[in-house]
Amino acid sequence: MSMITIMPSGKTFEAAEGMSLLAAILAADEAMNHKCNGNASCGTCHVFVHEGRKGLSRIAREENEKLDMIVGVGSKSRLACQAKVLGTEDIKVELLGFGSGL
Ligand code: FES
Repeated sequence: MSMITIMPSGKTFEAAEGMSLLAAILAADEAMNHKCNGNASCGTCHVFVHEGRKGLSRIAREENEKLDMIVGVGSKSRLACQAKVLGTEDIKVELLGFGSGL
């Protein structure tokens, strides 16, 4: 289990190991774009992970390629649908809303 904190709402909740960040966020009733339903092809689930980046699965090639195409990507960027919770660290994630993605 990891404790997830969502910014800017400040909501916190637990997420089970193996869940994607997207699934965990949606299960917590937090609104979030995910136009391709987790296929790493739309980029609308782009988030910034401010804390606990090592508590998420590593970035795979598919995710990396999509991130390369998104405006506003930084060192904290992840696609929430591709980042899996490892259960080793608590995570603080910023939802970027409509200002990001393709
Ligand atoms: S939901 Fe489309 S890239 Fe994550």
